[in-house]
Amino acid sequence: MRTKIKAILLNEQTDYEVTIKGWVRSFRNNQFIALNDGSTLNNLQIVIDFAHADESLLKRITTGAALEIKGTVIASQGKGQRVEVKAASVTVLGDCSGEEYPLQLKNRPSLEYLREIAHLRFRTNTFGAVFRVRHSLAYAIHRFFNEKGFVYLHTPIITASDAEGAGEMFRVSTLSPENPPRTEEGAIDYKEDFFGRATNLTVSGQLEAELGAMSLGEVYTFGPTFRAENSNTARHLAEFWMVEPEVAFNDLKDNMDLAEEFIQYIIGYALEHNREDLEFLTQRLAEEEKAKPQAERSEMSLIEKLEFVLNNKFERITYTEAIDILLQSKPYKKKQFQYEVQWGADLQSEHERYLVEKHFKKPVIVTDYPKEFKSFYMRLNDDGKTVAAMDILAPGIGEIVGGSQREERLDKLQQRMEDMHIPAEEMYWYLDSRRFGTAPHAGFGLGFERMVLFVTGMTNIRDVIPFPRTPKNADF
Ligand code: 4AD
Ligand code: MG
Repeated sequence: MRTKIKAILLNEQTDYEVTIKGWVRSFRNNQFIALNDGSTLNNLQIVIDFAHADESLLKRITTGAALEIKGTVIASQGKGQRVEVKAASVTVLGDCSGEEYPLQLKNRPSLEYLREIAHLRFRTNTFGAVFRVRHSLAYAIHRFFNEKGFVYLHTPIITASDAEGAGEMFRVSTLSPENPPRTEEGAIDYKEDFFGRATNLTVSGQLEAELGAMSLGEVYTFGPTFRAENSNTARHLAEFWMVEPEVAFNDLKDNMDLAEEFIQYIIGYALEHNREDLEFLTQRLAEEEKAKPQAERSEMSLIEKLEFVLNNKFERITYTEAIDILLQSKPYKKKQFQYEVQWGADLQSEHERYLVEKHFKKPVIVTDYPKEFKSFYMRLNDDGKTVAAMDILAPGIGEIVGGSQREERLDKLQQRMEDMHIPAEEMYWYLDSRRFGTAPHAGFGLGFERMVLFVTGMTNIRDVIPFPRTPKNADF
């Protein structure tokens, strides 16, 4: 039986026998192995009786090698650890060629370099911590909704609809790319395709989740979504995971309350269950920030920031109020914003960052945006100009949640779809939910990787998903 390193480090006892399996992080003085098995950030120190050890075995204990150790857990003789393992036997399960191994480097490899060797980067402290935290957040999401009685609904990955109406879709087709069948007009004939129509990877599970909510009451989806937007930024992925709750009878305020409680819950869960990883990431961020000019450094450490968000209410303002604040702001008056600030223009990330990082210094929920730049399904407000939308903006990230109360009135929805050239015939199934027992309802989408960015303090979204898909990159 193998004992995990986490269990050994947590166990108060000493003087018992164990079998441990893991990978060498370092080997010092032919005597001390730092062994890691992924169960915790911390390594276990293994002490070898090198005077009696086989020379050829010692040579095989290199950084990255996989070992099986049998020995006794004892109180540590040295500083830096409470317990260590006195090895009785060491078996090399897998050699790791010293010279070729990229993580052999003495200098700490950059995050950019580690991205090129993403198949190996799990083996670093940083990525071990990031992916343990990512796991905890995913688990906490399911726990939160389960405790509230939501039903986890699996919405399709392949779909014929463009939920957001933004046209940023990846086509799914089995037609020959060289010689596809053509219609008489010369267009590609998707009737001949696998599904008998043009299909794509989903950009959001929302529309199907709405259908579920109209009977199950409270549902959520949590799955991969795909966007073929050519945004090569530190906040965009072509494949990302989204959490989308949808709740019957909720209005915009209920929706905001749910989103706020939800975000605080999952942050609280990570603070409680990933303390060591978050302490490590806090230190990592502090070191990264040392390289920045004073004015650009955060005022709070990572853990302080998470505790602050956990314990303080989010700010809630309307889009119109946001525009007023921006028009009164120093950067506006000094013409430091690149994009225009004017009622009717969308908020750009420089504006969002000003509101969140400079003005309010906490997460902000902006509501009631002009209908012109929001999706067709958002509920039209009585002013006829704005919709019941909400975006949550987080410090250092920008938009982390997008949601709304949905347009439940058939005539209003049809009008909006017509105005926005959304083909109503193809969406009969969506419109049916407004024909048969329609009810007010609301929901939102949380970009999971943006949440992981926020909690881990990492700065590039490519570093919080195991294998990022971005324009011109689909390695591994
Ligand atoms: O604001 P979005 O586009 O909203 C929707 O898709 C709605 N259907 C959600 C809903 O109401 N059920 O996307 C929601 C969130 C954004 O706030 C952002 O956090 C994230 O998804 N997101 C991305 N994350 C990474 N890479 C991208 N390319 C993203 N696009 C959106
Ligand atoms: Mg959005």
